[in-house]
Amino acid sequence: MKRHLAFLTALAGATVLAGTAIAAELNIVHGSVGRDQEILRSQLDKFEAETGHTVTIVSMPESTTDQFAQYKLWLAAQSSDIDVYRLDVIWAPQIETHFIDLKPHVEDIIDDYVQGAIESQMVGDKLVALPMFLGAPALYYRSDLLEKHGKDVPATWQEMTETAKAIMEAERAEGNEDMWGFVFQGAAYEGLTCNAQEWIASFGGGRIVENDGTIAINNPKAAEAINLAASWVGDIAPDGVLNYKEEDARGVFQSGNSVFMRNWNYAYALGNGDDSPIKGKFGVSTLPTGGEGMEPAHTLGGWHLGVSKYSENQEEAIELVRFLNNYENQKERAIVTSRPPTLTAVYEDPEVAAEQEFIPLWKPVVDGALPRPSAATKRQYNEVSSEFWTAVHDTMSGKGTAEENLARLEARLQRLKGANW
Ligand code: GLC
Repeated sequence: MKRHLAFLTALAGATVLAGTAIAAELNIVHGSVGRDQEILRSQLDKFEAETGHTVTIVSMPESTTDQFAQYKLWLAAQSSDIDVYRLDVIWAPQIETHFIDLKPHVEDIIDDYVQGAIESQMVGDKLVALPMFLGAPALYYRSDLLEKHGKDVPATWQEMTETAKAIMEAERAEGNEDMWGFVFQGAAYEGLTCNAQEWIASFGGGRIVENDGTIAINNPKAAEAINLAASWVGDIAPDGVLNYKEEDARGVFQSGNSVFMRNWNYAYALGNGDDSPIKGKFGVSTLPTGGEGMEPAHTLGGWHLGVSKYSENQEEAIELVRFLNNYENQKERAIVTSRPPTLTAVYEDPEVAAEQEFIPLWKPVVDGALPRPSAATKRQYNEVSSEFWTAVHDTMSGKGTAEENLARLEARLQRLKGANW
């Protein structure tokens, strides 16, 4: 990026360089759902006013999988065009070589962060990105419809299936023809990996890849979970759910056309927005389990800010990362966009609790969230995840049974594993 040097002309007639007042032009690349981009812009405006630097947002498509493909191109080309990248929680081990170590630049504030969030961005001794916000999904339910039809918030996926169907059918019979039972992220991308690891773990089917690198995904519990999910398509969920990402699911639920939804935290503030048809008519609960006595599973999400090694404005980029993650900006994001913060103290802020009750309510769920196996699979995570979502998506599209697809997945993961992890 170009730098503008500020010169002063001294009264004596000599021209001197006035200190080092340098204004940088920074670029931040950032994907967005809901109001992410709007709030980022308003925070960048404050940064510009305080520092004299300018910051341009380079927008990305909604899908994290599409973003990753583009990021890899820029990074492989060692492009200096992007200074700050907003990085998905799962990427650090795969792309760390392209980012500077932020640790020496945040030593004074690092202890204020949720330690699990910091750990998720450490590769060896290097802090690849400074955590911006976390994510742990919820089961969103229409409290008005559960009450009207005399149903409880479901504790198991089987109950969720039955309640969704009963209410959907009753509502349709009353003329509400667009009503569905459950919407989620079923497209063939990273979002489906998040959903499906929740189904499987909550059925006792284990992890996609276990923490020690073992592959045990080809098991009857995992098959049971995926078979139940496949039964939703075209029944309680529209066929189109096989192409749904976060915003598609939110669109259906927020317009009042689904009883249940699985989504991330950002959907809460939007659902309660003044223009939302479901304002005050929905609640959130932990995700269902695979049966009595089982534990629910919530995938750990989140987005974090890294400074490119190829940036020509690293110092100013670090200043920007620190600014966007400071208390005031995290608090504003928590209140306005219901994004779980990464600074521990924001969860305890009384104004946050008063204006966005979801944040303190969800703290234990965020703390207990289930990471994806990106640390265990190292540089192979993206391929592992892609094999996994393909196996699930194929089953849900009627291409092979869960048992067949899991057997094939196991073989493919074994091949990927080779000597790599
Ligand atoms: C959310 C999560 C992110 C995840 C993505 C999947 O953006 O924060 O971690 O990979 O959803 O769609």
